[in-house]
Amino acid sequence: MTASSPYGTSAAQVAAKVIRGRLGDTASTPVVGIVLGSGLGGLATRVAGAVAVPFADVPGFPRATVVGHAGAVIGGTLGGGPVLALAGRFHMYEGHDAALAGFPVRVLHALGVRTLFVSNAAGGIRRSFRPGDLMLIRDHLNLMSRNPLVGVLEPGDERFPDMSAPYDPALAAGLLAAAAALQIPLQEGVYAALLGPTYETPAEVRMLATLGADVVGMSTVPEVIVARALGMRVAGISCVTNLASGISPHPLSHAEVLETTTLVASRFEALVERWVGGLT
Ligand code: HPA
Repeated sequence: MTASSPYGTSAAQVAAKVIRGRLGDTASTPVVGIVLGSGLGGLATRVAGAVAVPFADVPGFPRATVVGHAGAVIGGTLGGGPVLALAGRFHMYEGHDAALAGFPVRVLHALGVRTLFVSNAAGGIRRSFRPGDLMLIRDHLNLMSRNPLVGVLEPGDERFPDMSAPYDPALAAGLLAAAAALQIPLQEGVYAALLGPTYETPAEVRMLATLGADVVGMSTVPEVIVARALGMRVAGISCVTNLASGISPHPLSHAEVLETTTLVASRFEALVERWVGGLT
């Protein structure tokens, strides 16, 4: 017998059972699981027939603590397709293990999700990026110095998951097509994840640019790693909420991040809704 992780497969099944009990038939065969980033939770208001299960009611979930994160699992339909959305996520900068940051994805998997959409707020590093740009995530840099899979191998996980295509090209093509149909500009690039909670120094942003990063944030990567270990397909979008440190003409603040997400929310929501509609 090996000790089971508090954020492993069996814990995910316990959480999934509670959520399933609360949601009933709502989103019983989800076409996609959606992780909503800081300030992007408004997408939940477009979910038809929504049933919300507060994070506080889910075994194994701590309460979300960051302003801009409501903290609920929401079942319903979006663009006609059954979805499960996580409004809120667990960040490592809150003191959480990487395994906990990825745990909600295990729970989504236990609920039948096989396609995951992740979103986040991020600082723009590529010089042509402007606050309010949306960026399709083509690849990422895990600079968090942690990996959610460290430890005992969970049932269903790969021990050494391939990461040569973490973001699914066919799903990405669908997002680009949905963006084109709606005439929403969609950039493409690489997301660098740092631990936070400090924003970067200008020297760190120059380093990240040298490493090939187009945007920088403090989330998403643990979730994507868990999803890939479970064989899920992943797509993601970063919302460029500010120019990164040293590029921005003013100091960075969470208030600016949330302000920008408010401005782009309707574009973001329309894009995701259209894309999900095409998945069914
Ligand atoms: N850096 C890190 N995380 C972020 C940023 C940033 O500039 N903007 C929003 N999240």
